Amino acid sequence: MIQEHEYKKRRNRFLKKLKNNTIAIFSSAKAKTRSNDTQYPYRQDSNFYYLTGFKEDNSYLIFVKKNYKTKSFLFVKKKESQDELWHGKRLGKKEAKKRFSVDKVILSGKFKKLKKELKKKYKIDKNAFKVVAQMRLIKSKAEINLIKKAINITKKAHHGVISFDKTSKYEYELQSEIEYIFKKYGSYSDAYTSIVASGDNANILHYIDNKDILIDGDLILIDAGCEYEYYASDITRVIPVNGKFTQAQKELYNLVLQVNKKIIKMIKPNIKRTKLQQKAEIYLTKGLVKLGILNGNYKKLIKNKQHKKYYPHGIGHWMGLDVHDDAPYKDENDKEIKLQKGMVLTIEPGIYISKDDKTVPKRFRGIGIRIEDDILVTKKSYKNLSSKIVKSIYEIESMGYKYKTSP
Ligand code: GLY
Ligand code: MN
Ligand code: MN
Repeated sequence: MIQEHEYKKRRNRFLKKLKNNTIAIFSSAKAKTRSNDTQYPYRQDSNFYYLTGFKEDNSYLIFVKKNYKTKSFLFVKKKESQDELWHGKRLGKKEAKKRFSVDKVILSGKFKKLKKELKKKYKIDKNAFKVVAQMRLIKSKAEINLIKKAINITKKAHHGVISFDKTSKYEYELQSEIEYIFKKYGSYSDAYTSIVASGDNANILHYIDNKDILIDGDLILIDAGCEYEYYASDITRVIPVNGKFTQAQKELYNLVLQVNKKIIKMIKPNIKRTKLQQKAEIYLTKGLVKLGILNGNYKKLIKNKQHKKYYPHGIGHWMGLDVHDDAPYKDENDKEIKLQKGMVLTIEPGIYISKDDKTVPKRFRGIGIRIEDDILVTKKSYKNLSSKIVKSIYEIESMGYKYKTSP
């Protein structure tokens, strides 16, 4: 758990950066209707959560800076017995005053009126969201601990499905197993809808239908990560339905694995993410030429973007309160932000070969591989936070189970 003093520190840092004679407003996420009168589970807005740690809807935060003096107001919903009967307890104004070190706690019913009055007197700081995004780039110790917890639960889920008997099972059964393990170990939710993509489905990057039966001889790409106390994890592993990789699957898998490892080893402060991207493209393209999937000089292939057919996405992204963390990649001068201590990013090279791609040797068709880890940038290098989640062919095959070939 992150304590109020850390949230307070964040608000103070934000207030320092707030322009003079302006106000900034942060709102809680709106509760979303699923259909008619049924609701999606509520999930707080990440920026609002980052500044408060408060999980209730109908809440607002207003910051005011006048003549370099600052004030912060938190709005919370009034406690009402009927509302609490149907939807659960609210913190209420009295308890909120005790919990939050803000200048004033006000009931949400007064938010609109006060906002209108303040807007007449002050400009709204349009930069506010960018400032928070910038702050979210560097994680505190407490944040890193929560990410570690999320990854540890995610590890249990991935290991759980590696040893899960997949005989005559459907993709959604693995998804259910993963999500059961997330909840069992204290995660309230996944950080994104789990991708359980067997065979050619792995070539749809964000496949979430998870509806097909698992076929003996196919691979399954599992991209699944839980959220713990609002912090994400984002892990992809690829495992064989029957527990054993074929020779062609091994060749592709090991190529992606080598690239995953080489790029992770490059991580250190001051390196650029685009450098990691370039290197990943070079290694993957060279590998694809070696396997006879692409033909020609790797430099020319990259120049003509021919490798994009098999590796169409980025090498990774920031991760934190959101799986694709809402933090900038460029600074205010439009210059790329270099890696720094405390940043967390994913590394996720992949190769995707459609079953219909007649230009590729037949044995590689219908295979999609991505191997994704979550990396913390440290003072001198990096720490692979997901290093305990197995990824070598030997480890995966050793954790297998007895597959019963279908009758
Ligand atoms: N799970 C989405 C991604 O890997 O970016
Ligand atoms: Mn990712
Ligand atoms: Mn992912």
